Amino acid sequence: MSNYLRQMILSMTLCMILVGNPGILVFGFVEQERTERITEGAENHLLYPGTGNRNIEEREDWQMVKKNRNQFLVNGQPFYVNGFNTYWLMVFAADNSTRGKVTELFQQASSVGLTVCRTWAFNDGQWRALQKSPGVYDEDVFKALDFVVSEARKYKIRLILSLVNNWDAYGGKSQYVKWGKDAGLNLTSDDDFFSHPTLRSYYKAHVKAVLNRVNTFTNITYKNDPTIFAWELMNEPRCTSDPTGDKLQSWIIEMAVYVKSMDAKHLVEIGVEGFYGPSAPKRAQYNPNSYATQVGTDFIRNHQALGVDFASVHIYADSWISQTITDFHLQFTKSWMEAHIEDTERYLKMPVLFSEFGVSTKDPGYNSSFRDTLISTVYNTLLNSTKQGGSGAGSLLWQLFPEGTDYMDDGYAVVLSKSPSTSNIISLHSTRLAIFNSVCSWKCHWRCKKKDVLETFLYHDEV
Ligand SMILES: *[C@@H]1O[C@H](CO)[C@@H](O)[C@H](O)[C@H]1NC(C)=O
Ligand SMILES: *[C@@H]1O[C@H](CO)[C@@H](O)[C@H](O)[C@H]1NC(C)=O
Ligand SMILES: *[C@@H]1O[C@H](CO)[C@@H](O)[C@H](O)[C@H]1NC(C)=O
Ligand SMILES: *[C@@H]1O[C@H](CO)[C@@H](O)[C@H](O)[C@H]1NC(C)=O
Ligand SMILES: *[C@@H]1O[C@H](CO)[C@@H](O)[C@H](O)[C@H]1NC(C)=O
Repeated sequence: MSNYLRQMILSMTLCMILVGNPGILVFGFVEQERTERITEGAENHLLYPGTGNRNIEEREDWQMVKKNRNQFLVNGQPFYVNGFNTYWLMVFAADNSTRGKVTELFQQASSVGLTVCRTWAFNDGQWRALQKSPGVYDEDVFKALDFVVSEARKYKIRLILSLVNNWDAYGGKSQYVKWGKDAGLNLTSDDDFFSHPTLRSYYKAHVKAVLNRVNTFTNITYKNDPTIFAWELMNEPRCTSDPTGDKLQSWIIEMAVYVKSMDAKHLVEIGVEGFYGPSAPKRAQYNPNSYATQVGTDFIRNHQALGVDFASVHIYADSWISQTITDFHLQFTKSWMEAHIEDTERYLKMPVLFSEFGVSTKDPGYNSSFRDTLISTVYNTLLNSTKQGGSGAGSLLWQLFPEGTDYMDDGYAVVLSKSPSTSNIISLHSTRLAIFNSVCSWKCHWRCKKKDVLETFLYHDEV
């Protein structure tokens, strides 16, 4: 029996004890849930005529992720996220000799209870490009993305799909600018990606192609697929040519609404790293350095754009503060997280996902116990928010790899089978979140008087 399964059973038993009178409470809740689900299924049937009963049944236990104020919900229950990043899945799936790695990864991730994966739904103009030139797609690569989506579903993992890169890897905004120049546009900066109407229209066409794609493995249109947790507008947008933030803000406003108008069902996030900008000078003290204020992003203002459902934040003390590891990295991580949790509660009233965090094994002073401490710091800071009903909705480790893909490692890869202590930390956190996500935790958390027992389980590592 896997470690994770054992912990699940333990936690479920604990829940039964905690609830005190499981028969009535749990049963009552489940009954109510079931009625709601049947109703929802029926609605779906009307919305999508021609789908058989079998599909309705499937939809019942694999629903869209929704949002209620500062919480994610699935099937009316809280959905706190323990997840990970693996950016190269589509490219690996595009080659028969490496496709199996995608399956291996999802299998290993689910064995430690991870439920969300963030990955690239773009590869613009490069080797094994999805988009070969504006609006022209490689069908084999699209099928590879179909495979990733369909395989994720098998392992009950939801995907955050990012739609373009700020950086050059896999094309990015500079590839869009090249395309624009090839088409005869007078472009002078990669940031023209954000402002030039033709480049905006290229991006929108890509959004349209992905959202309306019919998966060749499942026949489900991406925009109707509950396997997709959310759309991410861009990986780490920065617009250094305009430190006021206006240029990027206007792009976000246009694109968030564009995605929402095409797909009202899925959640949308921007993909920013979370730096504080001109709209919140008092928060600038939480930035990792003074340059962060100058990159044209603005955490609070960016997330006030209509259509943005939840906030994203990245955490890289080793790239932003000093490459050499120090204890200050841990202090920064905690205060950076707490500041963003507070803002999302106070100003934005939305969940916040720490959608990239990790540390490179190449950093001077690195050792594996530091990595474990960093991961625990992120998890514990989130649990502190979660137990108070706060906005801290989850985290995605950068990054999880299966064995035998070392040549793709930028130093940040975690291979579970090679890192048993890290694996245990991840697994324990999944179990803790599963308690918050379960029906009975809902009751325990808000109603039960036996909170002490819950606290013991949640905060003592020896369990
Ligand atoms: C990959 O495998 C699929 C099915 O197993 C096959 O149809 C396809 O031709 C293969 N592609 C290549 C390039 O070998
Ligand atoms: C291209 O744009 C720049 C800045 O917008 C301008 O200075 C330049 O004159 C333009 N060049 C042409 C050939 O239109
Ligand atoms: C998808 O739809 C096509 C045509 O309607 C059908 O032939 C095929 O069997 C379907 N595939 C799946 C996996 O449902
Ligand atoms: C691991 O690294 C941290 C930070 O550099 C250091 O404080 C700690 O002593 C190291 N631990 C071991 C066991 O080497
Ligand atoms: C938990 O969060 C609160 C703020 O919401 C903070 O004051 C407190 O220090 C945190 N506790 C721990 C153990 O981090």
